[in-house]
Amino acid sequence: MRLFIAIEIPDDLIRMIVKLRADIPGARWVPAEQIHLTLAFLGEVDEGAVELLCKRLARIKHSAFTLCFSGTGFFFGHRRPRALWIGLAPEPHLDKLAARVRAAVQTSGIHQEERPFSPHITLARLKLSASRETDAFLDQNSRVYLPPFPVREFTLFKSQLTPQGAVHTALINFPLKYAAANGEL
Ligand code: 2AM
Repeated sequence: MRLFIAIEIPDDLIRMIVKLRADIPGARWVPAEQIHLTLAFLGEVDEGAVELLCKRLARIKHSAFTLCFSGTGFFFGHRRPRALWIGLAPEPHLDKLAARVRAAVQTSGIHQEERPFSPHITLARLKLSASRETDAFLDQNSRVYLPPFPVREFTLFKSQLTPQGAVHTALINFPLKYAAANGEL
């Protein structure tokens, strides 16, 4: 199965994110139910490896923390923007959690995508070159404010590719309820 590990975004924030959509030619906006913050993308994984993966993920000790969105931008590929994203304010807890998750994936023997962790939420995939509308979107949203949100768990997702697009199903939630000592990550 095709797997990834992500932080789910609270529904009230999803509603606010969806309201940022603008009329950009060639933009395919990510459906609300697929908006999440990816920590690790595993790709195809043998079913037999999932039990060990879940054991390793369940062993992660990390406390809950708060995240805040910050700004929007593009990912480029082949000399044109491919994806439009909303970023996250730097948060050491997020980087540390992603590192722990990726280490857990590795120690369960699963090969994962080598792309370094770059915290973002994809808003739209772009089919055309940058346009007046894409520039206007970035200008308008460079200081977009969305309220901070608590992260109390992370989730293992299954992604099924269908002719109608990807269908994501949450398989297991892993709570972040480790009581860290003061200042400890
Ligand atoms: P994206 O939002 O940057 O596209 C489910 O497909 C999640 O896994 C998406 O959030 C997607 O990130 C990420 N993803 C898909 N393919 C990936 C890849 N090859 N490498 C890293 N992340 C990927």
